[in-house]
Amino acid sequence: MSFEHLPDGLGIGTATPRLSWTLAAGSGSQKAYEVQLDRGGRSHRTGRVDRPDQLLVPWPGEPLASRERVTVRVRVWTSGAREPSPWSEPATVEAGLLDPADWCAVPVGAAWAEDPASDRRPARVRKDFRLDRPVARARLHVTAHGLYEVEINGKRVGDDILAPGWTVYPHRLRYRTHDVTGHLTQGANTIGAWLGDGWYRGRYGFDGGTRNIYGTDQSLIAQLEVTHEDGTTAVVATDGTWTAAPGPIMSSGLYEGETFDARLHDPHWATPSRADTFAWTPVRTGTRDPATLVAPLGPPVRCTQELPPVSVTRTGDGRHLLDFGQNLVGRLRVTVDGPAGTTITLRHAEVLQDGELATRPLREAHATDTLVLAGQGPLTWEPRFTLHGFRHAEVTGWPGELTADSVTARIYHTDMRRTGWFECSDPLVNRLHENVVWSMRGNFVDIPTDCPQRDERLGWTGDIQVFAPTASFLYDCAGMLDSWLTDVGLEQLPDGTVPWYVPVIPGAPMWTPIQPGAAWGDVVTLTPWTLYLRFGDLELLRRHNGTARAWVDLMERLAGPERLWDTGFQLGDWLDPAAPPDDPVAGRTDRYLVATAYFAHSARHLALAARELGDRAGAERYAGLADEVTEAFRRRYVRPSGRMTSDSPTAYALGLAFDLIGPDQRQPAGDRLAELVRQDDARIATGFVGTPLICDALTDTGHLDLAYRLLLQTECPSWLYPVTMGATTIWERWDSMRPDGTLNPGGMTSFNHYALGAVADWLHRTVGGITAGAPGYRDITFRPRPGGGITWARTRHETPYGTAALSWELTATGMTARFTVPEGCTATAELPGRAPVVLGPGEHTLDTAELAEDAA
Ligand code: BGC
Repeated sequence: MSFEHLPDGLGIGTATPRLSWTLAAGSGSQKAYEVQLDRGGRSHRTGRVDRPDQLLVPWPGEPLASRERVTVRVRVWTSGAREPSPWSEPATVEAGLLDPADWCAVPVGAAWAEDPASDRRPARVRKDFRLDRPVARARLHVTAHGLYEVEINGKRVGDDILAPGWTVYPHRLRYRTHDVTGHLTQGANTIGAWLGDGWYRGRYGFDGGTRNIYGTDQSLIAQLEVTHEDGTTAVVATDGTWTAAPGPIMSSGLYEGETFDARLHDPHWATPSRADTFAWTPVRTGTRDPATLVAPLGPPVRCTQELPPVSVTRTGDGRHLLDFGQNLVGRLRVTVDGPAGTTITLRHAEVLQDGELATRPLREAHATDTLVLAGQGPLTWEPRFTLHGFRHAEVTGWPGELTADSVTARIYHTDMRRTGWFECSDPLVNRLHENVVWSMRGNFVDIPTDCPQRDERLGWTGDIQVFAPTASFLYDCAGMLDSWLTDVGLEQLPDGTVPWYVPVIPGAPMWTPIQPGAAWGDVVTLTPWTLYLRFGDLELLRRHNGTARAWVDLMERLAGPERLWDTGFQLGDWLDPAAPPDDPVAGRTDRYLVATAYFAHSARHLALAARELGDRAGAERYAGLADEVTEAFRRRYVRPSGRMTSDSPTAYALGLAFDLIGPDQRQPAGDRLAELVRQDDARIATGFVGTPLICDALTDTGHLDLAYRLLLQTECPSWLYPVTMGATTIWERWDSMRPDGTLNPGGMTSFNHYALGAVADWLHRTVGGITAGAPGYRDITFRPRPGGGITWARTRHETPYGTAALSWELTATGMTARFTVPEGCTATAELPGRAPVVLGPGEHTLDTAELAEDAA
């Protein structure tokens, strides 16, 4: 049993959380269910409901009150069984603060004057309080302007970092609810919080960035609610009685890194028995509209893995170079002992050049952490309010010899549930797939970012638009992307314009003020659709529908009666390898062809969404519009021969994959695409727009062999070229590192960008053979298309209903395939050259040779 798209039910932000459950394998398909709600001694049962629904079932009782805690169980009647199943394990959902009037906490922070020109030293805030009776239960509802980490009586609250994450703060600031019962005692208690600048007021964005994007204060907003054993309650909320002091963090920034002076650190500073020597002074209180405080829709950012260095090298001048063997996103935790005042500097980079950290690609992100030792025995330290993208680190000033066990790379990202796996007989393809997973992890850090290392790390809309189908297979990212799409809607202009990146921060003139651009703006139509298809959440589709509609209506106005969007600034097939390194827009595909293709595709998806949402008129209107745009596209960009006006692989890939080419031109266009791929000797000749589509376009027009040649190419540019160069993540450019080992000289050279990894969706569907045939994979199409000398593949996906899996291997006579279909789902197996076979829940094995005999 689970609630909404959340990993647990604590502090949920809706009074009517939807329920989902999965059935154990072999239990048979659900015919009916009954839900029981236990709420404070009252029990409520729905009675038997004769429906097969088990995904995002509407809340079956009275709405939750703020803080209300309800235990939920379900039992089901399945096909074949007369009796209901036993009741499920109870799951608990607990409402957060649902009413703005529930909040009494106000923002509190340092009252001292800051030198705006210098690196601002972060504040800590603190409050001592007494609890006169034994504690039965305690919750901390907490957020901040900036970043926070709370301690109660010296013990950290929660294990998430960079809280409250990044949203469009003026409209939505997320608070989190923690169970802190175990942190408190009867008698004297202390609560304290470390604060950081983060996105709220840190230096962020290109070209030196902007400070104070959302405000100038750095403040904690916290409300501790205690229920005593005797039923009485106490509230400790941030107010004018708190005090503030600086601390051992001397400076901190997401790009900059952090400096910590351990000589100033009293580990007991947030306990009643502290000894620190800081002058704690009254806080300055601020204001915050509590109506803008919202509960999270997805999981927080956490450490999900730790890696030791694979090598430690001492340089001639006494520095240490560490290699973690994996390009990752996180930070270092060090354990070190040395004399007081020893200064240790940690620098980070994704690659080495000439044996030294290559930091040029980081641009103005310094990614440098500094620790000053206190000289009081071994100290374990990790920075708090920063994150770096790196594989290599340089350590300067380490006292003595640094050993591998004294430094650990801690990997952080939004702690989503892993749901997708793929493996095949080709080790290079497997490494490519691993690299996609690593790039997703590194860039799903509260919002979906372009890159994790340089002075950017923005929610670029185009990048996630192309990557969402891959992402939603690999991880349960529904909640996280639902949250981010909410912010996209908030940042949309009244005329429908969708920003290039969300949240919007000041950028160069082409980015702000925002202006409409194809492929990036289309995130609002295509990504909610992808999430609906993969996670089966119709409400999510409905919630983002207004945004999608405004976007398509805007394109309609921009295109005018001609139905061709051929004006304004466009990125076109961004990063076409034929474009010069310093002008990635100058690809070989007409950027207005790209714009009209996306216009048609978005209008088509809006029509599909309208149909699902029961909006007949909308479905008709947008299907009609999509037809007209498609017609206009054909007239303008497709010749009767099937040749396109831009004779480029991306033009054909778009036309074919978006189904914009007329029936008579389709095959010739597919053949021309094949010819171009052959002419390029199956090297990649597509950018952001064409690359995610080209393998499908080839597969669907009878050129599967060429799709495999593209996939398996190892010469630059290709997917596997970086793998042969030792890549452990997906690069931004095909040649982020050139064959001679030098870095691409462009100002934009990231080694961790997921966009070009969107090919993994084709791997999952076409090599692996698992496709959602109906929303939430309630119907599954298994259609593996072997090729390229790959002899076996194993693919697995945790669908909302349970495990779907397909593993196939070639045999002397054809193919043997093993399928797993989750309870509640149906499937069709379409094996090469064989008639489709319908499969029910459970395990199945099919052999194409046997199928042939059966048919005979
Ligand atoms: C980002 C991209 C983004 C692009 C748009 C780059 O700087 O890293 O991935 O989509 O700008 O132009």
